[in-house]
Amino acid sequence: MFTALFRLLLFSLVPKGGLGSVAYCENEEYESGAFGMSSYQTYNAAPFRPLQLNYAIPPAECPSNNDIGGYFFFYPENPITTEPFGMIINPNGTLVGAIPGFLRGIQKYKGKDHISVWVGNGSLLSVGHGSGHNLLLDDTYSIVANFTTVGLGVGADMHENFTLFTFKLEVTPNNTAVMTAYPVRTANLSRFGGPKSGFVYDSVVQEIDIATGYYHLKKLSPHLLNDLSEALFTWEALDHVDPSECYAAIGEAGNGTEEYPWDYFHINSVQKQDDGYLISSRYCHALYLVGLGGKIIWRMGGKNSDFTFSEGANFSWQHHARIHSSSVLSVFNNGASQINQDLPFSQGLLLNYDTRRKHVALVNARSPFNRTVTLSQGSFQILKDGESIVGWGAMPYFSLHDVNGDIKWSAQFAPSENAVASYRVFLHNWVGRPATPPSMQISTTSIPGNVTVYAWWNGATEVTAWELFGSKVLTPQSPMSLGIVGKVDFETTLRYTGEESYVFFQVVALNGNREYLGYSSFNLLSGNSSIAKANNQTVTAPPL
Ligand SMILES: *[C@@H]1O[C@H](CO)[C@@H](O)[C@H](O)[C@H]1NC(C)=O
Ligand SMILES: *[C@@H]1O[C@H](CO)[C@@H](O)[C@H](O)[C@H]1NC(C)=O
Ligand SMILES: *[C@@H]1O[C@H](CO)[C@@H](O)[C@H](O)[C@H]1NC(C)=O
Ligand SMILES: *[C@@H]1O[C@H](CO)[C@@H](O)[C@H](O)[C@H]1NC(C)=O
Ligand SMILES: *[C@@H]1O[C@H](CO)[C@@H](O)[C@H](O)[C@H]1NC(C)=O
Ligand SMILES: *[C@@H]1O[C@H](CO)[C@@H](O)[C@H](O)[C@H]1NC(C)=O
Ligand SMILES: *[C@@H]1O[C@H](CO)[C@@H](O)[C@H](O)[C@H]1NC(C)=O
Ligand SMILES: *[C@@H]1O[C@H](CO)[C@@H](O)[C@H](O)[C@H]1NC(C)=O
Ligand SMILES: *[C@@H]1O[C@H](CO)[C@@H](O)[C@H](O)[C@H]1NC(C)=O
Ligand SMILES: *[C@@H]1O[C@H](CO)[C@@H](O)[C@H](O)[C@H]1NC(C)=O
Ligand SMILES: *[C@@H]1O[C@H](CO)[C@@H](O)[C@H](O)[C@H]1NC(C)=O
Ligand SMILES: *[C@@H]1O[C@H](CO)[C@@H](O)[C@H](O)[C@H]1NC(C)=O
Repeated sequence: MFTALFRLLLFSLVPKGGLGSVAYCENEEYESGAFGMSSYQTYNAAPFRPLQLNYAIPPAECPSNNDIGGYFFFYPENPITTEPFGMIINPNGTLVGAIPGFLRGIQKYKGKDHISVWVGNGSLLSVGHGSGHNLLLDDTYSIVANFTTVGLGVGADMHENFTLFTFKLEVTPNNTAVMTAYPVRTANLSRFGGPKSGFVYDSVVQEIDIATGYYHLKKLSPHLLNDLSEALFTWEALDHVDPSECYAAIGEAGNGTEEYPWDYFHINSVQKQDDGYLISSRYCHALYLVGLGGKIIWRMGGKNSDFTFSEGANFSWQHHARIHSSSVLSVFNNGASQINQDLPFSQGLLLNYDTRRKHVALVNARSPFNRTVTLSQGSFQILKDGESIVGWGAMPYFSLHDVNGDIKWSAQFAPSENAVASYRVFLHNWVGRPATPPSMQISTTSIPGNVTVYAWWNGATEVTAWELFGSKVLTPQSPMSLGIVGKVDFETTLRYTGEESYVFFQVVALNGNREYLGYSSFNLLSGNSSIAKANNQTVTAPPL
């Protein structure tokens, strides 16, 4: 059997940019953990270590899986062996973009696709809350919006009783943002067996206008920060849902002390509709449709459900509820939590709901490949053709399901449930054209006449080949094309061997039509890139 170390040695012998870095297919060693609890890909120079995928149930063409198109977007939490970052990957498992921060996926803002990222602080895994900001990045990966909630106590420091902002966000067609937040409130909890002077995590929904949101306000008028009226809508669960409606008792989700406020409601998704907000409460096992005025229109599930359920249509400890039409909604049914287990395994449920008869029926369900329960997190994305991607949350896998819910393939990004989790996993089309130039590094073993160069361009989706240029002098520049290499992996190796003693090198990214997309700066053969810059010789195009 391979040990992890032996595997690493072997790996380094596999040519970079070769098949060593694509997803495995039904690899038993990966599955057994022989490659480590969070096995990752490495590059010669690019400073990222993306998690290695294994298709536990392989797609028709494994590993290419090109049928589906698009890229997977996810944020692996707490990988053991590698720094976490938001991953945009090809279906064959190669990295496309490494995004600093909690990558959510794509949101439409001002009619265009934007990458939605949460940056902040907080223990994502222990309580599922965090404090921070939401960023929207355009196709050049430039930040076009930076915002958070208003007037809920955000401010000076990270004391426990400052609002905790979570990473759930939806941009509406009106270019507003609907966010969730967990401010701490004081309350008399003796009715629930807690302290008289107790502390509760409230669950808040807030909608703000992105263009005039917090960041903007803070710059213009800091005193406005505590003015709730700046928000378009604010809804606080404690004002509407009594803790007796819910299933996480004091002691099971915090004990109501200042240090461990009681998280009685645990909001984990919100979706804006024309007639209100669909809110998912994990700990009340219920979805709430809250009207634009803040009143609860209906409760679906939980102790005071307005709806009845057909067999298999009820849910508990659920995530990611989404209305698709006036009669269809989807929800990731965990069916279990750290508190108790109602089901043998979690499922993505497609439901038919009838608001007149107040009844919910199961359309169909999606099950995980190895029938395990997901105690926390999870997502269920319905694609245009009715197929769907389910992200199994605390379980490190995601899967594609056909319109009937049957599994077509399942990929895993770690062998074991405790190694890595991903809050949600999405499949999106995306075109990335980074504003930052391509990166390159000249191998330190290079000598005149035998030069190895590593090229990569984080987030660029259109690169199909790389061209290497060499120059003997920088003034005037006289770069010569030294060859073109097809791009197969995130990092590409380019080589020059020959009689000429070039001392400056540049890489240029090409698209499928052999058009130049971006140019690196010239780097000195010694590997000292600062030379070119110090001499102010960075050029933007090779003079062809
Ligand atoms: C993040 O939170 C931890 C624990 O509350 C704190 O010690 C740390 O300073 C915070 N870091 C930042 C950047 O806010
Ligand atoms: C977003 O805005 C906050 C508040 O002004 C600021 O602290 C933070 O640095 C900003 N983040 C980015 C990435 O610009
Ligand atoms: C917030 O923390 C401060 C300092 O510990 C404390 O005096 C105050 O009562 C707390 N407020 C709330 C609403 O929890
Ligand atoms: C707290 O609530 C309990 C039970 O509802 C009540 O008996 C008690 O008087 C309350 N204490 C305070 C300080 O409000
Ligand atoms: C509250 O819970 C924390 C964490 O489990 C524990 O350390 C603490 O002793 C508890 N406090 C009370 C008053 O139960
Ligand atoms: C968008 O704004 C219009 C006009 O204010 C409103 O009628 C509609 O409900 C809003 N839609 C959403 C999803 O917020
Ligand atoms: C749905 O209801 C059935 C019957 O009451 C129950 O056995 C099952 O555990 C429930 N499912 C969930 C996810 O709570
Ligand atoms: C299912 O897969 C997860 C993650 O790979 C693993 O931790 C778990 O043991 C598996 N369960 C079964 C029943 O195979
Ligand atoms: C060029 O350098 C590489 C790596 O140092 C070496 O393996 C290769 O044999 C050299 N090629 C020539 C033609 O010298
Ligand atoms: C991985 O998939 C991408 C996108 O289809 C493709 O450009 C690339 O060549 C593939 N890489 C490998 C090593 O198969
Ligand atoms: C790189 O060049 C700069 C500027 O000439 C110089 O200060 C520095 O020592 C060089 N570094 C190396 C590693 O050669
Ligand atoms: C570098 O070139 C730019 C554009 O020609 C010029 O504006 C700048 O002053 C130069 N910088 C140095 C350090 O010479």
